[in-house]
Parts: sequence; C-alpha cells; structure tokens
Amino acid sequence: MTRHPVPFTPQNITEALRILKAGGLVAFPTETVYGLGADAANPQAVSKIFATKGRPANHPLIVHIGHVDQLEQWAESIPDNAYQLIDSFWPGPLAIILKKQPWVSDVVTGGQDTIAIRMPGNPVALDLLTQFNGGIAAPSANRFNHISPTLASHVQSEFGDSVEMIIDGGPCQVGLESTIIDVSSNNIKMLRPGHIQQQQIEHVLHNTVNQGTTDSTRRAPGMLELHYAPETPAALCPTIILDQYIEQYINAGKKMGVLVRHAQLDSHPNLHSIIMPEDPVKFGHDMYACLRQLDELQLDLILIEQLPDEPKWVAVNDRLLKATAGNICH
Ligand code: TXA
Ligand code: MG
Repeated sequence: MTRHPVPFTPQNITEALRILKAGGLVAFPTETVYGLGADAANPQAVSKIFATKGRPANHPLIVHIGHVDQLEQWAESIPDNAYQLIDSFWPGPLAIILKKQPWVSDVVTGGQDTIAIRMPGNPVALDLLTQFNGGIAAPSANRFNHISPTLASHVQSEFGDSVEMIIDGGPCQVGLESTIIDVSSNNIKMLRPGHIQQQQIEHVLHNTVNQGTTDSTRRAPGMLELHYAPETPAALCPTIILDQYIEQYINAGKKMGVLVRHAQLDSHPNLHSIIMPEDPVKFGHDMYACLRQLDELQLDLILIEQLPDEPKWVAVNDRLLKATAGNICH
C-alpha cells in the first residue's frame, strides 16, 4: 500500500498539525525539495525521521521556522552577519548554521553544538510553519543517499505508507537543496552550494566566504560519498567523448540513459536520452526528476554530459559529482 499525496487545503493543514503535535511525520513541499518533517522540539518524533530515512544519527537536520522571531528559541550568540543574510534571503533557499540553544536535543543536531535553521519560501511550507508555531526538523524526503524529491509522487515512491501524510504542493520551484552557510564562528564557510550563490552572500556580508563541507566525518582526500544518487550506476562524461562512450556501450548490448545538453544522438532502442536545459537554474530545477525517470527504466548505466566548470554551475556540479561518486569517463 502507498499513501497518496493530499492537496493543500485548510482541512489537510489542520490534520498535518495534529499529526506533528502527536509526534508523527508529515512530508511537505519547500521551494528547494520536499521535506520529511517532525516536531523539532520532540526528540522521539525526530528520531522517527532517522529510522524512516535510514539516516545515520550523526547527520544533523535543518530546523525550519515560519517567523524570524523564533530564531532565538533555537540559536544563541547570533552574529550580525546572520541577520544581514536573513534580511536578504529569507524566506528562501538558505540554511544558516548558528550556535544552538542548550535545550535543543542532540537528536536534531547530531550531537554538535551548532544548529542549521531555515525559513523556506514556499507558501505551503510557510502556512504549515506559521500555524504550527514551532520548529519543524526536516531533511529531504528521500531514503538516505537517494535522489531528493521535487514532486509529491517522488516522496510517495520513496516511503510508501511509512509517512503519515504527504502534502502535495506541486513541483518545487528551485529543485536543489538549500545553500548552507556556517556563521557560527568568525571563519564563515559555505558548506553546501545552492541556488543562492557564494558571490551573492559575499556581496551581502562585504566579506569573503571560505569553502567547507557538511561531512561530519573526515575521510581520505578524493573519496566521495555517494549521495543524491540514482540506484543505476552513473557517470559524468566530457562532451567530446560522449558519442564514443555511448557507441561502445550500446555495441556491448548495454541499456543506457543519457542526460545531454548539446549532443545530437542517433536513436537506438537501448538508448534513452533526455535533452536538458542550457540554463543552469532550469537544469537544476529538472535534474532530480530526470534522474529518477531514467532510474526507473532498469538501465545498466546513466551517463551525464559534463557541465562547464563555472560559478553558475557550482550547485549542479556539486550534486552531480556526488550522484556519480566522482565517476568521470576519460
Ligand atoms: O533545501 C533543504 O535544505 C532541504 C529542505 C527540506 O529544506 N533539506 C535538506 O536537508 O536538504 P538534508 O537533511 O537533506 O540536508 C541537511 C544538511 C546535511 O548535509 C547536514 O549535514 C547539514 O545540513 N547540517 C545540518 N546541521 C548542521 C550543522 N549543525 N553543522 C553542519 N552541517 C549541518
Ligand atoms: Mg538530503
């Protein structure tokens, strides 16, 4: 049995609030990706998120709030630059890492003394959050390491009936997870690139921002965590060798899917190609849904045409590098 997404109506929001207050899970749309939400002040409810996703306990969650006034309930020692970012980008696709208030459960923060907070810009999320009048902890509503959901139907296929309610808000406007910026120390770091770019943040802060990582554990250089990934093996492929690579695979009797921007590919029954947008924002918007579409076809390989190494492609390149575990054809 799978649970069907329900439309955004006052009655369904009332039911969602009831479920959240009772310690249950509600999946809801944000402008980035769908989130799997629980009452962030209820550690038992939050631990259901980890169980449902199969997520390791040391991976901290983002707490979503509906009003800036709630920030100080969750975070302390909030620096001025946090408020500058909030003024410029909230509600919106920016999560901010701050020192946590002592009462906030380790279950939410993965045992760290910092907390990630975001006020999303999606009307459904904001309505739910303002009526809930508290923090909702919500990771992307997908199984651990799998592709993030940008449609309610994606959440349904990820979790079946193990989530008590899925609110359908249509396709997510951005389609990639939020930018994460750590202002919890003087060394301001961007932990995850997203729709809001590093130069926009630097412009607001009149300061340079360093690169950091969301990884809670250190690993050997060059080792990439498989994340945001389809189940089908996937690789990035430079444009100039794409044709040659496809021909080789098809001749070997393999079934393959390809995400391309430029190449004109000959049609073949074993070749499923999707032409992607030229524009990085539109590419990011479509990318996860297209990867899911190919992932459902039981293919041997998904090839993704490599994208330019330019600032406007940073977020897309980051996700694709992780989705392919850094696997690049040469
Ligand atoms: O766009 C988004 O942010 C979506 C929607 C639902 O809001 N949520 C999302 O959550 O992407 P999740 O759990 O898939 O990713 C949260 C990231 C993780 O990489 C986690 O390590 C990082 O935020 N994070 C959370 N708290 C942190 C902290 N205190 N310090 C460092 N990183 C943190
Ligand atoms: Mg995620």
